[in-house]
Amino acid sequence: MGKTFIISNRLPVKIERKKNKLVVTRSEGGLATGLGSFYREDGSWWLGWPGIIPKNTEEEEFIRKELHSLNLIPVFLTPEDIKGYYEGFSNAVLWPLCHYRPSFVDFNEAYWNSYLNVNNKFASEALKHLDNDTNIWIHDYQLMALPELLRKHDQSFTIGYFHHIPFPPEELFRMLPWRGQLLKGLLGADLIGFHTFEDTQNFLNSCSSNLRMEAHYNNLKCNGRRIFVEAFPMGIDYEKFKNAALSQEVLQKAREVKEYYRNQKIILSVDRLDYSKGIIERLRALERLLKSHPEMIGKIVLYMLIVPSRDEVSAYKKLRNDIDRLVGNINAVYGRPGWSPVAYFYQSVPFEELSALYVAADICFVNSIRDGMNLVAKEYIASKQSDKRGVLLLSEFTGASKELTDAVLINPHDSIKVSASLYHALNMPVKEQKERIQACQHIVEKFHVHHWVKLFMERLQETKHLQRKELAR
Ligand code: ADP
Ligand code: G6P
Repeated sequence: MGKTFIISNRLPVKIERKKNKLVVTRSEGGLATGLGSFYREDGSWWLGWPGIIPKNTEEEEFIRKELHSLNLIPVFLTPEDIKGYYEGFSNAVLWPLCHYRPSFVDFNEAYWNSYLNVNNKFASEALKHLDNDTNIWIHDYQLMALPELLRKHDQSFTIGYFHHIPFPPEELFRMLPWRGQLLKGLLGADLIGFHTFEDTQNFLNSCSSNLRMEAHYNNLKCNGRRIFVEAFPMGIDYEKFKNAALSQEVLQKAREVKEYYRNQKIILSVDRLDYSKGIIERLRALERLLKSHPEMIGKIVLYMLIVPSRDEVSAYKKLRNDIDRLVGNINAVYGRPGWSPVAYFYQSVPFEELSALYVAADICFVNSIRDGMNLVAKEYIASKQSDKRGVLLLSEFTGASKELTDAVLINPHDSIKVSASLYHALNMPVKEQKERIQACQHIVEKFHVHHWVKLFMERLQETKHLQRKELAR
């Protein structure tokens, strides 16, 4: 097996300007945290955007050098690219459509042109580094046109693509004026992966109705090339979370958190600021619980950690204001001197702190309206090592819920039942907590992220092998 060349919009680290200095920090989001911890182990290289616009060529050179030492290669985006391709087509068209929110979609032709332009930019950068021996692995919805652009350059390339977010049903996807081009873009790959079986079916249905291409079980033929479409549920770096959760540093931090919130049960939520995460619905469920069970007042806290995300996109700006208002209202109505029901933090936290929060939390509350996978759920499970106590409340609309069936599954739209489940979780007997955590842990431990990478890359090799055999016939 040759080397792997990963391409995604977001690199696993970002460059930030802090007090006039450029610093490297880790990126948030499932793609970056999932693959970011180990891609270098097998000498892979990763091409993507470092999240900053350099001020001059010296800064650009500095960034290139810093990233090179991490096996990373930057693609720099201009302010116009960021507006049209990133905030526009990626996050105001594809993201809402793939998360079943068509009313949020801004069907803007200029966004589409910018998207194509930037996908071409990624192709030209990538082609400087690729040869026939390399396995190309493209990630996520920002680069759906890229597989075809690379394929046009060299028919023999080995190209895998993984879609980290849901793929919508055909009735939704067909709303896109550029649906045919996007599907053809993806079909430049040899293997197309999704988190769930439903996503694979949605994609194949879109190919069949928009491109008149009939799938045979899990594959279809495009220009004589057989392409496979399969589910590969992504895992996490289990050992990393396990070891952290057992380390003295994290255990000490967890004790401090528990001490700070003594006599209160900690309900933890961790997300990027995103309407797909059901943050408003989560707050409403908490509000309902406090109203229907006033005996809980002073006894629980929702520790809500939100990392800023896409703050120039209008739906995200509005969401931030809505959250601020609702948190303020809940704390004002139900709070008491010395106690607030919601502890809200709008910031990214270092890994050890996050790990300590997972260890300390009595409940992890994942309430997504739609989520490709949701790695937070798996990270919480992997962090429950020493006493195996804790409850995962998990939305049925996450990819993770298909695997973690021993979590307490919830429908985020049903606030009455969600608040009842929260109450149930707060009172769950320890024995049941342990049984559920252990059953989930078994899955998260077995299907870790290294396993996911191995499986995908092996399938990619098999696909190539099959294609060659068919061509030789
Ligand atoms: P998404 O990919 O939509 O952001 P996931 O739950 O799959 O959702 O992945 C989110 C990742 O970002 C997780 O690995 C999580 O640990 C990390 N993350 C989210 N919020 C924070 C935060 N406030 N500080 C640090 N890491 C965070
Ligand atoms: C999700 C997407 C990723 C994206 C991440 C963070 O995980 O699947 O592709 O990188 O969110 O979003 P951002 O817009 O900051 O890259």
